This record gives sequence, C-alpha cells and structure tokens, in this order.
Amino acid sequence: MATESFVLKVLEVVEETADAHSIVFEVPDDLAERFSYTPGQFLTVAVPSDQTGLAARCYSLSSAPHTGRHQITVKRTVDGYASNWLCDNLREGDTLRVLPPSGIFTPRDLESDLLLFAGGSGVTPVMSITRTALEKGHGKVVLFYANRDETSVIFARELAQLSAEYADRLVVVHWLESVQGLPTQEQLKAFATHFSAYTAFVCGPAPFMKAVVESLKELGFPRDRRHQEKFVSLGGNPFGDVEEMQAAAKTLAEADDHEDDDARAVTGPVTVEVDLDGQDYSFDDWQGDKPLLEFLEEKGLDAPFSCREGNCSACACVVLEGEVTMKNNEVLDADDLADGIRLVCQSLPASEKLRISYNG
Ligand SMILES: Cc1cc2nc3c(=O)[nH]c(=O)nc-3n(C[C@H](O)[C@H](O)[C@H](O)COP(=O)(O)OP(=O)(O)OC[C@H]3O[C@@H](n4cnc5c(N)ncnc54)[C@H](O)[C@@H]3O)c2cc1C
Ligand code: FES
Repeated sequence: MATESFVLKVLEVVEETADAHSIVFEVPDDLAERFSYTPGQFLTVAVPSDQTGLAARCYSLSSAPHTGRHQITVKRTVDGYASNWLCDNLREGDTLRVLPPSGIFTPRDLESDLLLFAGGSGVTPVMSITRTALEKGHGKVVLFYANRDETSVIFARELAQLSAEYADRLVVVHWLESVQGLPTQEQLKAFATHFSAYTAFVCGPAPFMKAVVESLKELGFPRDRRHQEKFVSLGGNPFGDVEEMQAAAKTLAEADDHEDDDARAVTGPVTVEVDLDGQDYSFDDWQGDKPLLEFLEEKGLDAPFSCREGNCSACACVVLEGEVTMKNNEVLDADDLADGIRLVCQSLPASEKLRISYNG
C-alpha cells in the first residue's frame, strides 16, 4: 500500500563539512524496487522527538541511482530541530523510518546539456543529477555553486575530482559569499546567458532561487527547461496511522465542502483516468468527498506522496484533461500551474472527467 513507511538501517555517516552529514541507508533486496529513484528525488525521514513523537523531514538523495547507493545529505539549520538531531545523533547501525523516494526535480533526459545552480545544502539533489548525467549521459554540465565560505562547500573534493575526470563536459564555478558577496541577479544573468540553450535546475535558499529564476526568465528560458526545488520543513506527519490520517483528511474535506460550496464546481461522480508507472487506470466513481490521493490509494494505486499537506510536491501530477481545485498549495508557482501541474493530495474535482499523468 502506498502509505507504507519502512525502517532502514544506517550503513554509514559521512561528515562532509562541520555542519553537513551524509547518511547512507541500507536498502534490502526486497525493497530495491520500492526504493528505486531518479536523480533529484528525495526521501522523507521520521526524526524521533520527545515532544511530538516524530518530526517528518524531506532530504534529497545526493547519490546517483545507478550506483545502488541511497545517500541523503543533511545540513544543520540554525535553531532547527531535525537537521541538528540527525547530525548529532545518527550513527552507523542505527535505524530510521523512511518513506520511499519521490519528487519531480529530476531531468527527463540525461542527454541534455544541464545548467545547475546550487546554494548551500541545495547542492544535494544537484549532486545526484551531476553524478548521474556525467556517468550515464553524454551532455555538458555547468554547475554554479554558491556558499558562505570555503569551509562550507559540501562535496568540494568530489567536484574537483569530477571536473578533472570529465574536463571536457563539466564546468564547476564556485561562488563564495565571503569573497564575492551574494550573487546579484545581474551577475547570475551574465553567467547564464552563455548557456541559454541548456536545461536549468535551481536549488538553494529562497533569495538565491528567486534571483536565479528571474534571471532565467529574463533570458527566455522556457518553463520546460527551468526547474526549481524548494526546501521547506513539513508541518504534518505522513508516517501516522493510515486510517487515522484518512479519517482526518475526510473530516477536513467535509469541513471544506461546507466552506467552499460555491467554489467547488463538481461533487462527483467523476471519471478519473490515471497514467502511473507506465500503467493506465480508469475509475468512474470519485465522489469528490475526499482528495484524489486518498481516492487513488483506496483503489489500490501506489500513488506517490510525502507531506499530504500541499507543501512538498511529492504527489505532483500533470492534468491532461479536466480540472481540479487544490485545498492548499505551498509549493507550485504560477508557471507550474500554467503547465497543468497539480498536487494530488490537495485535489478535489472541478470537472466531470479528469485525466492525469504522473509521468510529466
Ligand atoms: C523536497 C525537499 C528536499 C530537501 N532536501 C534537503 C537536503 O537535501 N538537505 C537539507 O539539509 N535539507 C533539505 N530539505 C530541508 C529539510 O527538509 C528541513 O526543512 C531542514 O533540515 C530544516 O529542518 P529542521 O527541523 O532542522 O529545522 P526547522 O524546521 O526550522 O526546525 C524548527 C521546527 O521544528 C519544530 N521543533 C522544534 N523542536 C522540536 C521537537 N523537539 N520535536 C519536534 N519538533 C520540534 C518547531 O516547532 C519548528 O517547526 C529539503 C526539503 C524539501 C521539502
Ligand atoms: S504529498 Fe506533499 S504536496 Fe502532496
């Protein structure tokens, strides 16, 4: 069932810098398929807490999928709870509860030339993309990597090695705030203009991402060549008892039914066609009384999810026909919405027929 979480053993903890640790999980053979991933995807981990039982947090995989390694990289957040707990407490041999990989910050085509922008811990998914593109693709990779100072550069040695090994395909430009100040939009634009035919991936602190994305927009990068990943902390608990969560979601949907009676165009039954993992499914009885994710789970589909709250994008699909309304959306921007991307965990029907794809 899609809602299952798994207890994984920690194989290794690597101190990357003074405030960033990589955690490598052992994935047993019987979970290999469930934990297969594409570069740029993330895991959701349950960090133990005396106060709340657990704090759920997403961490991007920094390893390359074809190596069989499952490595996340956690950077301490000042005054943060989970990141510091993980860096302070987790040791080889410990176990953590984990949700399988999800996310849409992933290249569709490893042969494309890639323009990657990473700020601080934003390098994590970018590193997975870099490693995979170099080893499995043939395109060029340009990485603009911004950090506070030299000591905070995660993966510095490996990037130097990759630059030497793939001298004709990889260019890494380090930008240190301690030396050059924060990169301005004009500087970022002047850099990106040399690579205007590349596909861009951006991950880092909010002001950095904003400056990069605005530069790319000004340079005319089309939406399908401009991807961004936002790092936020989940507020809810996707690890909880499934039936309890579904009951909670139902109560919420019912409350919303009353509040949003005018906004909701359709209450069902709605015909739903779904393309998931290369398989087509069709149902004609979505009553609109529960979010689409919950409906698909009840139908036995292995639909992806993490937060169930509209703030991580793990459940994102593309609406090919029809429309939904979303109860909450903290993660998709206007361009995503214009491209038909919707959060399945927040979707209620707004048309009598809906056709969605999880394959972009
Ligand atoms: C898709 C995605 C990928 C990400 N990838 C990465 C990555 O690769 N690397 C990375 O470093 N980060 C990544 N992040 C960010 C990461 O998920 C966290 O947001 C980040 O580590 C900060 O979490 P934190 O708990 O340390 O800080 P905060 O969330 O700022 O911690 C404070 C919060 O914790 C709560 N809290 C305080 N004390 C306790 C307690 N005792 N028990 C329970 N709760 C408590 C507080 O109420 C408050 O809400 C990613 C986020 C997303 C969405
Ligand atoms: S599961 Fe996180 S936005 Fe839907």
